Amino acid sequence: RRIKGEVVLKDVTFGYVPGKTVLKRINVTAKPGQKIAFVGSTGAGKTTITNLINRFYEIEEGEIYIDGINIRRIKKDSLRSNIAMVLQDTHLFSGTVRENIRYGRLDATDEEVVAAAKIACAHSFIERLPEGYDTVLEGDGANLSQGERQLLNIARAAISKAPILILDEATSSVDTRTEKYIERGMDRLMKNRTTFVIAHRLSTVRNADLIIVLEHGEIIEQGTHEELLDLGGRYYQLYTG
Ligand code: GTP
Ligand code: MG
Repeated sequence: RRIKGEVVLKDVTFGYVPGKTVLKRINVTAKPGQKIAFVGSTGAGKTTITNLINRFYEIEEGEIYIDGINIRRIKKDSLRSNIAMVLQDTHLFSGTVRENIRYGRLDATDEEVVAAAKIACAHSFIERLPEGYDTVLEGDGANLSQGERQLLNIARAAISKAPILILDEATSSVDTRTEKYIERGMDRLMKNRTTFVIAHRLSTVRNADLIIVLEHGEIIEQGTHEELLDLGGRYYQLYTG
């Protein structure tokens, strides 16, 4: 059955260790194709929410549904193939650029690898590498810049057909030109996928369908960029300095 990508969190409460609640009664509804942004200070619980959607950990209380199916009843393999991720710390392995991108979908053809690299705006830098797509990356992509590593990760997510996407934006800054590239890659990647983005860049948050502001594991505000600015609360503080 084809997953459309509706994701619902219902009264989700969670802690990594007994007695220390990290998320309290979280309710979120993402309709297929929507972009939901999580913002909030460090340690607020943003990454933890995405860890639960991935089912890296089991929820204590509450439920998560994908297309109305409780994720406890979805096989982990199926979750893996329906949720693509671009995470803070990028994981590349020693192998060619092509192999690193294809890791997102092992049956992909060479043409699909190039198409994914184009979506990620990675194609032009790859072509400039000594052996292009056959260039061997040193362990963890040490011979690439941070921005280039990020673009390869975006390409890896782009090649997957997963209808749900999780983006944990890196806080560390890349140069403005690379950032512009990454933004463009991200925009194309998110098209037609339900996206949960943990956003540090205002440009990413601004056009989200829903922005959720977390503090100490609780949702304290939610709405669109304009609604939250009008509210003049925590979000307003975060993004007006
Ligand atoms: P930033 O990424 O720094 O912006 O924070 P975040 O909002 O993503 O916070 P995160 O969800 O990672 O952490 C929320 C709380 O859970 C913090 O108090 C962390 O210390 C705690 N936490 C996160 N990961 C783990 C873990 O693997 N084990 C344990 N025991 N605690 C964790
Ligand atoms: Mg985090």
